[in-house]
Amino acid sequence: MKNLVLYFSVYGTAKIVAEEIAKQTGAELVEIEPAVPYDSNRDHYNALAAYAKKEHDEDQRPAIKNDIDISGYDNIFIGYPMWWYTFPMIIYTLFDKYDFAGKTIIPFNTHMGSGDGGTYKTIRELEPNAKVLEGLPVEMKAAENGPEKAVSRWLKNTGF
Ligand SMILES: Cc1cc2nc3c(=O)[nH]c(=O)nc-3n(C[C@H](O)[C@H](O)[C@H](O)COP(=O)(O)O)c2cc1C
Repeated sequence: MKNLVLYFSVYGTAKIVAEEIAKQTGAELVEIEPAVPYDSNRDHYNALAAYAKKEHDEDQRPAIKNDIDISGYDNIFIGYPMWWYTFPMIIYTLFDKYDFAGKTIIPFNTHMGSGDGGTYKTIRELEPNAKVLEGLPVEMKAAENGPEKAVSRWLKNTGF
């Protein structure tokens, strides 16, 4: 079974979790790169929040820069931060653009209190022909402090 970790991250915390999952499973790691980069300077949080809210309210589909090949993978971990109580709109782009039918999706996300915000259910709705396993929400600070234990416990519980 081939495993892939796909992730989108602006402040680097979903990336930390993604790297840990890849390390523990031996999965390939691929970043979802936006065609128009987001401002990763945390001092500019308010500007990013406003920008992301506009994308959300206008139901935008921000373009993905890189070509992602999911064809050879059975299990695909998909990670993202919570933005405005759901996933970033670029994750909708991902699900519009790629067909995950027949794949197993294992979601994970970082957040500051919203948990998964119902996004794992949204993925089940968007990809009805994929099998979506129980995901892992990681609080931002916990990700920065090292998610090794949370990731290994979760992987064990989900059968990896
Ligand atoms: C635009 C924006 C919106 C956010 N909205 C939420 C939210 O609704 N709920 C929440 O728990 N955290 C929210 N956060 C916090 C992020 O989920 C958190 O900082 C996360 O760790 C960032 O992931 P990253 O480092 O991979 O970019 C938001 C952050 C940003 C920048």
